[in-house]
Amino acid sequence: MNYENLLISIEEKIATVTINRPTKLNALNKDTISDLSKAVKLLGKNDDVRVIIITGSGEKAFVAGADISEFANYTVEEGAQLAAEGQESLFDFIENLKKPVIAAVNGFALGGGLELSMACHFRVASDNAKMGLPEVSLGLIPGYGGTQRLPQLVGKGRAMEMIMTAAMISAEEAKQYGLVNHVVPQAELLDFTKAIAQKIIKNAPFAITKAIKAINANYKDGKDGFETEIKSFGKCFGTKDFKEGTTAFLEKRKAEFTGK
Ligand code: COA
Repeated sequence: MNYENLLISIEEKIATVTINRPTKLNALNKDTISDLSKAVKLLGKNDDVRVIIITGSGEKAFVAGADISEFANYTVEEGAQLAAEGQESLFDFIENLKKPVIAAVNGFALGGGLELSMACHFRVASDNAKMGLPEVSLGLIPGYGGTQRLPQLVGKGRAMEMIMTAAMISAEEAKQYGLVNHVVPQAELLDFTKAIAQKIIKNAPFAITKAIKAINANYKDGKDGFETEIKSFGKCFGTKDFKEGTTAFLEKRKAEFTGK
């Protein structure tokens, strides 16, 4: 398997998928989402693989979000389509995969990056990691399941605050919130995560698959919420504030929102 923006290694039944666009802080452009979706599908069917770990390359970022430069000129319809396709092909797909998927969050996990880690079955973070859903600072809302999965993980009040302030939290705060299970020094992140994977591998594969299904079943009521998110995300693309937010980011200046 060869992918432009992914590195994949398989060792002792653990597949490590590294998102590899370090100069863009591993931001998820369309090609990377498509590659990641194909890779996870194939690894899901590969009998040599029992657990998948997703991480980012470099020491700075897990994934700094969806690639803002790609969607800055999208219309309402294109915005909704972006969210719907991404949710179906990658985020929901990972959440419902029959094999455990663990996010090893090695730095910034922002926007689509935090959403990707939340679609994984659980998260381990390095001590330098910073997490947040900054979409409202771009005139958007999270579109890859963030408005649904963040409250599931941290509770409604904390999710409201994180999403409305667009602020980042530290790895330690994320652990306190229940957003990540463990925080370890960056150099130990992959070995620590692999040790958890090894513990999982000792258990019965069919039972693990059924456990994933049963645990996920408790959260399926959020289905309509995902639809609402897709429509609301799309509507943001029709606002002047969205144009201002994304243009300001790309021009490296502070956005000035007017509420229109
Ligand atoms: N989409 C597209 N490009 C991105 C990106 C994203 N989400 N996040 C970072 N990049 C790019 C930057 O544009 C920059 O590219 P350049 O060198 O060609 O100009 C490169 O990655 C490095 O980022 P930079 O902003 O210079 O690093 P920094 O250390 O100053 O800041 C962040 C790091 C994470 C705080 C900052 O990059 C950021 O705020 N990113 C956007 C986060 C976001 O809003 N994500 C949600 C998207 S929906």
